[in-house]
Amino acid sequence: MPGIVLIGAQWGDEGKGKATDLIGTKVDYVARFNGGNNAGHTVVVGDESYALHLLPSGIISPTATPVIGNGVVVDPEVLFEEIDGLESRGVDCSRLLVSEGAHIIAPYHRVLDKVTERFLGKHKIGTTGRGIGPAYADKINRVGIRVHDLFNAEHLHDKVEASLHQKNQMLVKLYNRRPIDVNETTDELLRLGERLKPYVANTSLVLNKALDEGKTVLFEGGQATMLDVDHGTYPFVTSSNPTAGGACTGTGVGPTKISRVIGVSKAYVTRVGEGPFPTELFGEDGDWLRAQGHEYGVTTGRPRRCGWFDAVVNRYAAQVNGLTDIVLTKLDVLTGLKEIPLCVAYDVNGERRDDMPTDQAEFAVAKPIYESMPGWSEDISQIHDFNDLPKTCQDYVKRLEELSGCRISVIGTGPQRDHIIQINSLVD
Ligand code: IMP
Repeated sequence: MPGIVLIGAQWGDEGKGKATDLIGTKVDYVARFNGGNNAGHTVVVGDESYALHLLPSGIISPTATPVIGNGVVVDPEVLFEEIDGLESRGVDCSRLLVSEGAHIIAPYHRVLDKVTERFLGKHKIGTTGRGIGPAYADKINRVGIRVHDLFNAEHLHDKVEASLHQKNQMLVKLYNRRPIDVNETTDELLRLGERLKPYVANTSLVLNKALDEGKTVLFEGGQATMLDVDHGTYPFVTSSNPTAGGACTGTGVGPTKISRVIGVSKAYVTRVGEGPFPTELFGEDGDWLRAQGHEYGVTTGRPRRCGWFDAVVNRYAAQVNGLTDIVLTKLDVLTGLKEIPLCVAYDVNGERRDDMPTDQAEFAVAKPIYESMPGWSEDISQIHDFNDLPKTCQDYVKRLEELSGCRISVIGTGPQRDHIIQINSLVD
Protein backbone atom coordinates (compact mmCIF):
# COMPACT_ATOMS: atom_id res chain seq x y z
CA MET A 1 0.00 0.00 0.00
CA PRO A 2 2.73 2.52 -0.64
CA GLY A 3 1.59 6.11 -0.78
CA ILE A 4 4.65 8.25 -1.45
CA VAL A 5 4.61 12.03 -1.06
CA LEU A 6 7.14 14.12 -2.96
CA ILE A 7 7.48 17.78 -2.02
CA GLY A 8 9.89 20.70 -2.39
CA ALA A 9 11.88 21.38 0.75
CA GLN A 10 12.92 24.98 -0.04
CA TRP A 11 11.24 27.80 -2.02
CA GLY A 12 10.44 25.79 -5.14
CA ASP A 13 12.26 24.86 -8.35
CA GLU A 14 14.30 22.20 -6.55
CA GLY A 15 14.07 19.82 -9.51
CA LYS A 16 11.01 17.87 -8.39
CA GLY A 17 10.12 17.09 -12.01
CA LYS A 18 13.23 15.00 -12.45
CA ALA A 19 12.67 13.21 -9.12
CA THR A 20 9.01 12.52 -9.94
CA ASP A 21 9.98 11.15 -13.29
CA LEU A 22 12.63 8.97 -11.67
CA ILE A 23 10.07 7.43 -9.31
CA GLY A 24 7.29 7.63 -11.91
CA THR A 25 8.51 4.59 -13.80
CA LYS A 26 7.82 2.48 -10.69
CA VAL A 27 4.43 3.89 -9.69
CA ASP A 28 0.89 3.29 -10.89
CA TYR A 29 -0.55 6.77 -10.24
CA VAL A 30 1.04 10.25 -10.01
CA ALA A 31 -1.32 12.72 -8.31
CA ARG A 32 -0.82 16.50 -8.12
CA PHE A 33 -2.39 17.76 -4.90
CA ASN A 34 -1.97 21.56 -4.73
CA GLY A 35 -1.29 24.72 -6.71
CA GLY A 36 -1.97 25.14 -10.39
CA ASN A 37 -0.08 26.37 -13.43
CA ASN A 38 2.10 28.55 -11.20
CA ALA A 39 4.33 25.46 -10.95
CA GLY A 40 6.97 24.64 -13.51
CA HIS A 41 8.81 21.36 -13.93
CA THR A 42 11.29 20.54 -16.63
CA VAL A 43 11.43 16.83 -17.29
CA VAL A 44 14.27 15.62 -19.48
CA VAL A 45 13.83 12.24 -21.16
CA GLY A 46 16.64 11.26 -23.51
CA ASP A 47 17.17 14.24 -25.80
CA GLU A 48 13.65 15.54 -25.18
CA SER A 49 12.89 18.25 -22.62
CA TYR A 50 9.32 18.87 -21.45
CA ALA A 51 8.26 22.01 -19.56
CA LEU A 52 5.15 21.17 -17.52
CA HIS A 53 3.06 23.54 -15.44
CA LEU A 54 -0.24 21.99 -14.52
CA LEU A 55 0.03 18.35 -15.56
CA PRO A 56 1.67 15.93 -13.12
CA SER A 57 5.21 15.06 -14.21
CA GLY A 58 4.13 11.40 -14.43
CA ILE A 59 2.29 12.24 -17.67
CA ILE A 60 5.55 11.47 -19.46
CA SER A 61 5.63 7.92 -18.04
CA PRO A 62 3.92 5.48 -20.42
CA THR A 63 2.60 3.32 -17.56
CA ALA A 64 1.50 5.68 -14.74
CA THR A 65 -1.95 7.27 -14.57
CA PRO A 66 -1.64 11.04 -14.01
CA VAL A 67 -4.21 12.55 -11.62
CA ILE A 68 -5.10 16.18 -10.86
CA GLY A 69 -6.47 16.13 -7.32
CA ASN A 70 -9.21 18.23 -5.72
CA GLY A 71 -6.61 20.50 -4.05
CA VAL A 72 -5.35 21.78 -7.42
CA VAL A 73 -6.78 24.90 -9.08
CA VAL A 74 -7.29 24.14 -12.76
CA ASP A 75 -7.14 26.65 -15.58
CA PRO A 76 -8.79 24.58 -18.35
CA GLU A 77 -7.33 26.68 -21.17
CA VAL A 78 -3.83 26.09 -19.88
CA LEU A 79 -4.57 22.40 -19.35
CA PHE A 80 -5.67 21.97 -22.99
CA GLU A 81 -2.67 23.92 -24.28
CA GLU A 82 -0.39 21.63 -22.30
CA ILE A 83 -2.20 18.47 -23.48
CA ASP A 84 -2.12 19.64 -27.13
CA GLY A 85 1.58 20.50 -26.85
CA LEU A 86 2.46 17.07 -25.44
CA GLU A 87 0.22 15.12 -27.84
CA SER A 88 1.80 16.90 -30.82
CA ARG A 89 5.09 15.43 -29.57
CA GLY A 90 3.64 11.92 -29.30
CA VAL A 91 2.91 11.85 -25.54
CA ASP A 92 -0.41 10.12 -24.86
CA CYS A 93 -2.47 12.17 -22.36
CA SER A 94 -5.68 10.13 -22.57
CA ARG A 95 -5.10 8.46 -19.17
CA LEU A 96 -5.31 11.81 -17.34
CA LEU A 97 -7.91 12.00 -14.55
CA VAL A 98 -9.13 15.34 -13.19
CA SER A 99 -10.96 15.56 -9.87
CA GLU A 100 -14.57 16.68 -10.15
CA GLY A 101 -14.04 18.66 -6.95
CA ALA A 102 -11.01 20.69 -8.14
CA HIS A 103 -11.59 24.43 -8.35
CA ILE A 104 -11.45 26.26 -11.67
CA ILE A 105 -9.28 29.27 -12.44
CA ALA A 106 -11.72 31.42 -14.42
CA PRO A 107 -10.58 34.27 -16.68
CA TYR A 108 -11.59 36.79 -13.99
CA HIS A 109 -9.15 35.23 -11.49
CA ARG A 110 -6.25 36.04 -13.80
CA VAL A 111 -7.47 39.62 -14.17
CA LEU A 112 -7.81 40.01 -10.39
CA ASP A 113 -4.34 38.54 -9.71
CA LYS A 114 -2.73 41.16 -11.93
CA VAL A 115 -4.72 44.20 -10.80
CA THR A 116 -4.34 43.28 -7.12
CA GLU A 117 -0.56 42.99 -7.45
CA ARG A 118 -0.44 46.35 -9.18
CA PHE A 119 -2.64 47.85 -6.47
CA LEU A 120 -0.41 46.46 -3.69
CA GLY A 121 2.58 48.39 -5.11
CA LYS A 122 5.57 48.00 -2.79
CA HIS A 123 3.62 45.42 -0.76
CA LYS A 124 3.18 43.11 -3.75
CA ILE A 125 3.83 39.35 -3.39
CA GLY A 126 5.45 38.90 -6.80
CA THR A 127 2.89 36.28 -7.84
CA THR A 128 3.10 34.38 -11.11
CA GLY A 129 -0.01 36.27 -12.29
CA ARG A 130 -1.81 33.03 -13.13
CA GLY A 131 -4.90 33.70 -10.95
CA ILE A 132 -3.85 31.24 -8.26
CA GLY A 133 -4.49 33.43 -5.18
CA PRO A 134 -7.90 34.73 -6.35
CA ALA A 135 -9.07 31.18 -7.23
CA TYR A 136 -8.09 29.86 -3.79
CA ALA A 137 -9.63 32.95 -2.15
CA ASP A 138 -12.94 32.11 -3.85
CA LYS A 139 -12.64 28.52 -2.66
CA ILE A 140 -12.24 29.65 0.95
CA ASN A 141 -14.91 32.35 0.54
CA ARG A 142 -17.25 29.63 -0.79
CA VAL A 143 -17.88 31.34 -4.11
CA GLY A 144 -15.55 29.13 -6.18
CA ILE A 145 -16.45 27.21 -9.34
CA ARG A 146 -15.64 23.50 -9.22
CA VAL A 147 -15.08 21.13 -12.13
CA HIS A 148 -18.50 19.46 -11.77
CA ASP A 149 -20.21 22.88 -11.91
CA LEU A 150 -19.15 23.14 -15.56
CA PHE A 151 -21.66 20.49 -16.59
CA ASN A 152 -24.87 22.24 -15.51
CA ALA A 153 -25.58 25.48 -17.37
CA GLU A 154 -28.20 26.90 -15.02
CA HIS A 155 -26.27 26.08 -11.90
CA LEU A 156 -23.04 27.44 -13.39
CA HIS A 157 -24.70 30.72 -14.39
CA ASP A 158 -25.88 31.12 -10.80
CA LYS A 159 -22.43 30.48 -9.39
CA VAL A 160 -20.68 32.82 -11.84
CA GLU A 161 -23.21 35.51 -11.01
CA ALA A 162 -22.61 35.08 -7.28
CA SER A 163 -18.88 35.17 -7.76
CA LEU A 164 -18.83 38.21 -10.06
CA HIS A 165 -21.33 40.26 -8.08
CA GLN A 166 -18.75 41.54 -5.60
CA LYS A 167 -15.78 41.33 -7.99
CA ASN A 168 -17.37 43.61 -10.56
CA GLN A 169 -17.98 46.23 -7.90
CA MET A 170 -14.31 46.04 -6.99
CA LEU A 171 -13.11 46.05 -10.59
CA VAL A 172 -15.15 49.11 -11.49
CA LYS A 173 -15.05 51.16 -8.31
CA LEU A 174 -11.65 50.32 -6.89
CA TYR A 175 -9.52 49.29 -9.85
CA ASN A 176 -11.17 51.45 -12.52
CA ARG A 177 -11.65 48.48 -14.88
CA ARG A 178 -14.57 47.28 -17.00
CA PRO A 179 -17.02 44.82 -15.34
CA ILE A 180 -16.88 41.18 -16.48
CA ASP A 181 -19.96 39.82 -18.24
CA VAL A 182 -21.72 36.95 -16.45
CA ASN A 183 -23.27 35.39 -19.60
CA GLU A 184 -20.06 35.52 -21.62
CA THR A 185 -18.07 33.99 -18.78
CA THR A 186 -20.64 31.24 -18.25
CA ASP A 187 -20.65 30.35 -21.98
CA GLU A 188 -16.87 30.26 -22.05
CA LEU A 189 -16.73 27.97 -19.00
CA LEU A 190 -19.42 25.66 -20.45
CA ARG A 191 -17.41 25.35 -23.66
CA LEU A 192 -14.26 24.46 -21.69
CA GLY A 193 -16.28 22.00 -19.59
CA GLU A 194 -17.31 20.07 -22.72
CA ARG A 195 -13.70 19.32 -23.54
CA LEU A 196 -12.78 18.60 -19.92
CA LYS A 197 -15.57 16.06 -19.38
CA PRO A 198 -13.83 12.88 -20.59
CA TYR A 199 -11.02 13.35 -18.07
CA VAL A 200 -13.23 13.99 -15.03
CA ALA A 201 -13.45 11.36 -12.29
CA ASN A 202 -14.03 10.77 -8.59
CA THR A 203 -10.27 10.75 -8.05
CA SER A 204 -10.42 10.23 -4.26
CA LEU A 205 -12.26 6.96 -4.86
CA VAL A 206 -9.88 5.94 -7.65
CA LEU A 207 -6.77 6.61 -5.54
CA ASN A 208 -8.12 4.93 -2.40
CA LYS A 209 -9.13 1.82 -4.36
CA ALA A 210 -5.70 1.72 -5.99
CA LEU A 211 -3.95 1.93 -2.61
CA ASP A 212 -6.22 -0.76 -1.17
CA GLU A 213 -5.28 -3.02 -4.09
CA GLY A 214 -1.58 -2.59 -3.28
CA LYS A 215 -0.83 -0.16 -6.09
CA THR A 216 1.72 2.62 -5.65
CA VAL A 217 0.62 6.25 -5.70
CA LEU A 218 3.02 9.16 -5.89
CA PHE A 219 1.58 12.40 -4.47
CA GLU A 220 3.32 15.29 -6.18
CA GLY A 221 3.36 18.74 -4.59
CA GLY A 222 3.63 21.96 -6.60
CA GLN A 223 5.73 24.84 -5.15
CA ALA A 224 7.45 24.01 -1.85
CA THR A 225 7.55 24.03 1.94
CA MET A 226 8.65 27.66 2.39
CA LEU A 227 5.82 28.81 0.08
CA ASP A 228 3.15 27.00 2.14
CA VAL A 229 0.33 29.33 3.20
CA ASP A 230 0.51 27.95 6.77
CA HIS A 231 4.15 26.98 7.23
CA GLY A 232 6.01 29.22 4.78
CA THR A 233 7.28 32.79 4.86
CA TYR A 234 3.81 34.33 5.05
CA PRO A 235 2.65 36.58 3.35
CA PHE A 236 5.27 35.85 0.68
CA VAL A 237 3.80 32.45 -0.05
CA THR A 238 1.45 30.77 -2.47
CA SER A 239 -2.19 30.22 -1.49
CA SER A 240 -2.15 26.45 -0.96
CA ASN A 241 -0.48 23.77 1.19
CA PRO A 242 2.52 22.32 -0.65
CA THR A 243 3.65 20.58 2.56
CA ALA A 244 3.05 16.84 3.05
CA GLY A 245 -0.30 17.29 4.84
CA GLY A 246 -1.65 18.90 1.67
CA ALA A 247 -1.31 15.53 -0.08
CA CYS A 248 -4.17 14.20 2.05
CA THR A 249 -6.55 17.16 1.88
CA GLY A 250 -5.66 17.76 -1.77
CA THR A 251 -6.55 14.23 -2.93
CA GLY A 252 -8.97 12.79 -0.37
CA VAL A 253 -6.59 10.10 0.87
CA GLY A 254 -6.02 9.62 4.61
CA PRO A 255 -2.59 10.02 6.29
CA THR A 256 -2.51 6.33 7.31
CA LYS A 257 -2.04 5.51 3.62
CA ILE A 258 1.19 7.51 3.29
CA SER A 259 4.35 5.51 3.92
CA ARG A 260 7.12 7.77 2.58
CA VAL A 261 7.64 11.53 2.47
CA ILE A 262 10.44 12.61 0.15
CA GLY A 263 11.74 16.17 0.19
CA VAL A 264 13.64 17.61 -2.76
CA SER A 265 16.39 20.14 -1.98
CA LYS A 266 18.87 21.82 -4.25
CA ALA A 267 22.52 21.80 -3.16
CA TYR A 268 22.06 25.60 -2.94
CA VAL A 269 18.88 27.67 -2.69
CA THR A 270 16.81 29.74 -5.13
CA ARG A 271 13.70 31.84 -4.75
CA VAL A 272 11.48 33.78 -7.16
CA GLY A 273 9.14 36.60 -6.21
CA GLU A 274 9.38 38.78 -3.14
CA GLY A 275 10.11 37.88 0.47
CA PRO A 276 13.02 37.28 2.85
CA PHE A 277 15.83 34.91 1.86
CA PRO A 278 18.67 34.85 4.43
CA THR A 279 21.41 33.24 2.30
CA GLU A 280 20.66 35.29 -0.83
CA LEU A 281 23.78 36.29 -2.77
CA PHE A 282 24.10 39.59 -4.52
CA GLY A 283 26.83 40.40 -7.02
CA GLU A 284 29.27 37.95 -8.58
CA ASP A 285 28.58 34.84 -6.48
CA GLY A 286 24.83 35.09 -7.13
CA ASP A 287 25.39 35.69 -10.86
CA TRP A 288 27.76 32.70 -10.98
CA LEU A 289 25.22 30.35 -9.35
CA ARG A 290 22.44 31.64 -11.62
CA ALA A 291 24.54 31.06 -14.74
CA GLN A 292 25.88 27.65 -13.65
CA GLY A 293 22.45 26.41 -12.56
CA HIS A 294 20.44 28.03 -15.43
CA GLU A 295 18.24 29.57 -12.77
CA TYR A 296 15.45 31.17 -14.79
CA GLY A 297 11.77 30.39 -14.09
CA VAL A 298 10.09 27.70 -16.24
CA THR A 299 6.72 29.43 -15.76
CA THR A 300 7.61 33.12 -15.89
CA GLY A 301 11.18 33.21 -17.26
CA ARG A 302 12.13 35.42 -14.29
CA PRO A 303 15.77 35.21 -13.12
CA ARG A 304 15.77 33.37 -9.78
CA ARG A 305 17.38 34.81 -6.68
CA CYS A 306 20.26 32.50 -5.69
CA GLY A 307 22.01 31.72 -2.39
CA TRP A 308 24.01 29.13 -0.46
CA PHE A 309 22.44 26.01 1.06
CA ASP A 310 20.42 26.82 4.17
CA ALA A 311 20.38 23.94 6.68
CA VAL A 312 17.89 25.75 8.94
CA VAL A 313 15.36 25.62 6.10
CA ASN A 314 16.09 21.94 5.48
CA ARG A 315 15.75 20.98 9.17
CA TYR A 316 12.47 22.87 9.24
CA ALA A 317 11.27 21.09 6.09
CA ALA A 318 12.19 17.73 7.65
CA GLN A 319 10.13 18.71 10.71
CA VAL A 320 6.93 20.08 9.15
CA ASN A 321 6.76 17.40 6.45
CA GLY A 322 8.01 14.43 8.48
CA LEU A 323 10.57 13.71 5.76
CA THR A 324 11.84 10.14 5.40
CA ASP A 325 14.27 10.89 2.53
CA ILE A 326 15.91 13.80 0.77
CA VAL A 327 16.64 13.98 -2.95
CA LEU A 328 19.55 16.41 -3.29
CA THR A 329 19.58 17.98 -6.76
CA LYS A 330 22.07 19.97 -8.83
CA LEU A 331 25.14 19.06 -6.81
CA ASP A 332 27.17 19.36 -10.04
CA VAL A 333 26.40 23.11 -10.17
CA LEU A 334 28.79 23.65 -7.24
CA THR A 335 31.71 21.97 -9.08
CA GLY A 336 34.61 24.37 -9.43
CA LEU A 337 34.17 26.27 -6.17
CA LYS A 338 37.23 26.27 -3.90
CA GLU A 339 35.18 26.76 -0.75
CA ILE A 340 31.44 26.26 -0.26
CA PRO A 341 29.73 28.29 2.46
CA LEU A 342 26.86 26.49 4.17
CA CYS A 343 24.35 28.18 6.49
CA VAL A 344 24.06 26.22 9.76
CA ALA A 345 22.05 28.67 11.92
CA TYR A 346 20.81 32.27 11.98
CA ASP A 347 21.81 35.31 13.92
CA VAL A 348 18.60 37.14 14.85
CA ASN A 349 19.34 40.49 16.49
CA GLY A 350 22.53 39.09 18.03
CA GLU A 351 21.00 35.79 19.19
CA ARG A 352 21.91 32.41 17.61
CA ARG A 353 18.89 30.48 16.29
CA ASP A 354 19.20 26.88 15.20
CA ASP A 355 15.47 26.60 14.48
CA MET A 356 13.28 28.51 12.05
CA PRO A 357 11.90 31.71 13.61
CA THR A 358 8.11 31.61 13.36
CA ASP A 359 7.79 35.38 13.65
CA GLN A 360 8.29 36.70 10.12
CA ALA A 361 9.63 40.00 11.45
CA GLU A 362 12.49 37.98 12.97
CA PHE A 363 12.98 35.89 9.83
CA ALA A 364 13.22 39.09 7.78
CA VAL A 365 16.31 40.19 9.75
CA ALA A 366 17.89 36.72 10.19
CA LYS A 367 21.55 36.70 9.11
CA PRO A 368 23.15 33.41 8.07
CA ILE A 369 25.85 31.88 10.26
CA TYR A 370 28.14 30.09 7.80
CA GLU A 371 30.44 27.14 8.00
CA SER A 372 32.78 26.63 5.05
CA MET A 373 33.46 23.30 3.34
CA PRO A 374 36.26 22.63 0.80
CA GLY A 375 34.96 22.26 -2.77
CA TRP A 376 35.92 19.95 -5.69
CA SER A 377 36.83 20.50 -9.32
CA GLU A 378 36.22 17.07 -10.92
CA ASP A 379 33.22 16.48 -13.26
CA ILE A 380 30.78 14.39 -11.19
CA SER A 381 28.04 13.94 -13.80
CA GLN A 382 29.13 10.43 -14.86
CA ILE A 383 29.50 9.09 -11.31
CA HIS A 384 26.83 6.63 -10.12
CA ASP A 385 28.32 5.39 -6.85
CA PHE A 386 28.53 7.71 -3.85
CA ASN A 387 31.97 6.32 -2.92
CA ASP A 388 33.37 7.39 -6.30
CA LEU A 389 32.62 11.07 -5.64
CA PRO A 390 35.61 13.25 -4.75
CA LYS A 391 36.21 13.03 -0.98
CA THR A 392 35.38 16.75 -0.42
CA CYS A 393 32.12 16.29 -2.33
CA GLN A 394 31.20 13.27 -0.16
CA ASP A 395 31.96 15.34 2.95
CA TYR A 396 29.74 18.18 1.73
CA VAL A 397 26.81 15.79 1.18
CA LYS A 398 27.35 14.06 4.55
CA ARG A 399 27.39 17.42 6.33
CA LEU A 400 24.12 18.47 4.64
CA GLU A 401 22.59 15.18 5.74
CA GLU A 402 23.79 15.60 9.32
CA LEU A 403 22.51 19.20 9.52
CA SER A 404 19.17 18.36 7.88
CA GLY A 405 18.44 15.45 10.21
CA CYS A 406 17.23 13.26 7.35
CA ARG A 407 18.99 10.79 5.07
CA ILE A 408 19.91 11.80 1.53
CA SER A 409 18.75 8.96 -0.71
CA VAL A 410 19.33 10.31 -4.22
CA ILE A 411 21.80 12.86 -5.56
CA GLY A 412 21.30 14.71 -8.86
CA THR A 413 24.57 15.22 -10.70
CA GLY A 414 23.37 16.73 -13.99
CA PRO A 415 20.30 17.53 -16.10
CA GLN A 416 19.86 14.16 -17.83
CA ARG A 417 17.64 11.42 -16.45
CA ASP A 418 20.62 9.15 -15.72
CA HIS A 419 22.67 11.85 -14.01
CA ILE A 420 21.93 10.47 -10.56
CA ILE A 421 23.48 8.61 -7.66
CA GLN A 422 20.93 6.37 -5.97
CA ILE A 423 21.86 5.57 -2.37
CA ASN A 424 18.47 4.25 -1.18
CA SER A 425 15.46 3.19 -3.23
CA LEU A 426 12.60 5.70 -3.01
CA VAL A 427 9.91 3.13 -3.61
CA ASP A 428 10.45 -0.07 -1.55
P1 IMP B 1 1.37 32.59 -6.80
O1 IMP B 1 1.49 31.13 -6.46
O2 IMP B 1 1.35 32.84 -8.27
O3 IMP B 1 0.25 33.26 -6.07
O4 IMP B 1 2.71 33.32 -6.27
C1 IMP B 1 3.01 33.42 -4.88
C2 IMP B 1 4.50 33.23 -4.64
O5 IMP B 1 4.87 31.88 -4.88
C3 IMP B 1 5.39 34.09 -5.55
O6 IMP B 1 6.55 34.48 -4.83
C4 IMP B 1 5.79 33.12 -6.65
O7 IMP B 1 6.99 33.49 -7.28
C5 IMP B 1 5.93 31.83 -5.84
N1 IMP B 1 5.74 30.62 -6.64
C6 IMP B 1 4.57 30.11 -7.09
N2 IMP B 1 4.78 28.99 -7.76
C7 IMP B 1 6.09 28.72 -7.71
C8 IMP B 1 6.91 27.65 -8.20
O8 IMP B 1 6.45 26.66 -8.79
N3 IMP B 1 8.24 27.76 -7.95
C9 IMP B 1 8.76 28.81 -7.26
N4 IMP B 1 8.04 29.80 -6.77
C10 IMP B 1 6.71 29.77 -7.00
